[in-house]
Amino acid sequence: MFYKELKEFPKDFLWGASTSAYQVEGAYDEDGKGLSVQDVHTPPPGITDFKVASDHYHHYKEDIKLMAELGLKAYRFSIAWTRIIPDGSGEVNEKGLQFYHDLIDELLANNIDPIATMYHFDLPYKLHENGGWANRETIDAFEKYSKILFENYGGKVKYWLTINEQNVMINHPNAMNPGRIPSKKELYQQSHNMFVASAKATLLCHEMCEDAKIGPAPNITAIYAEKCNPSDALAADDWESIRCWLYLDIAVHGRYNTIAWSYMEEKGYTPDIEAGDMELIAKAKPDYIGVNYYATATVCASKNDGTDCQPRNGDQQVMIGEEGVYRAGVNNYLEQTDFGWMVDSIGLRVTLRRVYDRYHLPLLITENGLGAKDELQADKTVHDDYRIDYLKRHFHQAQLAITDGVELIGYCPWAFIDLVSTHQGYGKRYGLVYVDREEDDLKSLERIKKDSFYWYKEFILNN
Ligand code: BG6
Repeated sequence: MFYKELKEFPKDFLWGASTSAYQVEGAYDEDGKGLSVQDVHTPPPGITDFKVASDHYHHYKEDIKLMAELGLKAYRFSIAWTRIIPDGSGEVNEKGLQFYHDLIDELLANNIDPIATMYHFDLPYKLHENGGWANRETIDAFEKYSKILFENYGGKVKYWLTINEQNVMINHPNAMNPGRIPSKKELYQQSHNMFVASAKATLLCHEMCEDAKIGPAPNITAIYAEKCNPSDALAADDWESIRCWLYLDIAVHGRYNTIAWSYMEEKGYTPDIEAGDMELIAKAKPDYIGVNYYATATVCASKNDGTDCQPRNGDQQVMIGEEGVYRAGVNNYLEQTDFGWMVDSIGLRVTLRRVYDRYHLPLLITENGLGAKDELQADKTVHDDYRIDYLKRHFHQAQLAITDGVELIGYCPWAFIDLVSTHQGYGKRYGLVYVDREEDDLKSLERIKKDSFYWYKEFILNN
């Protein structure tokens, strides 16, 4: 790459932080909330469930005070569908509606822009029992839910995200489907139905909320070829199309990605598409794209000998390979976190450039961060210099991407506060704020600012 003079982050850049409802709120059955698939999911022994999480439901005012102290311009959170409509499709729960009114009002009173995700892995359990996303009735339920959200919060929330990491839910379905892992054929049907549901929500948002912007939030990762032989390059291309572009080509261009579609045809995974679906999807144009980025992935050509797939811990960021499609490759140029996730700050720049070049829509980094085993010191400090280093390097690459011409409107590290990891409990912490609890001991739940909190505060001030 040629060297250039760095461009500044824009003046109104959304320096933020993220969380999701089921990972942070707790109060899983309070004030009329219904159960979601996450509430009935049994974690492995020794790993906490999501029942209390970080108890944000009862601490939200204190948490927002900390956000204001940090100087956040935006906060990305998700709304729990089951607080608004406990069974997913029936009666509305007034207390649930009120909670998010209070949360959003508190953010606005502190000059923090709310960025609301409509659905982050926590499908109402009643809908799941009824076939979940494979059943088209879930599309209608999501449309009804979206309408309620826009009616209530449309005047106050400018940034909406439809579905968090639909591609993760399809490629790593274990955490989202308690009791049974659907076949790939069914998963691609679920995925198609989610595309229709997002399109309906996008159209409704544009119709009902004058100034709002709405977009998807997939997990996007540039895929590298392990070696420079053409068959590895092809495998990387295939996997990038199947894992990433499939989801954004539909959202932005309203069509299935060619390579992904031919893979689905070959494998017999193509979904049933009803008359009118594709027209509707094509009409619903997102205003921006949320990008959840953790690391790039490295792959090589399939051997197609029954050993391509090497399931590891089911992590969304760890490639496992797929028979006849690709194998997970090794990348000796990158470091790894204690949890085996690669660290690739330059990969963030590569990813942002690829996404922007392909879609030419404003981008918002909706997740990026480091999961670690932080330690609380006796003097109530947490020295997470490794997280500061991680963020510093990634922010720099984001600035380089802006310099390259990428229209980046904000950056929301994962996570504002410690929360329950998707499947590794409370031992894997991501927050800028430490929560005093352990896997099986709720302790004081006190909030303690980590060193990264102070560092980010300074960084925002100076930018
Ligand atoms: C993203 C999810 O995939 O990664 C978050 O949107 C998740 O919900 C984050 O917490 C980090 O992953 P994990 O598995 O370490 O919690």
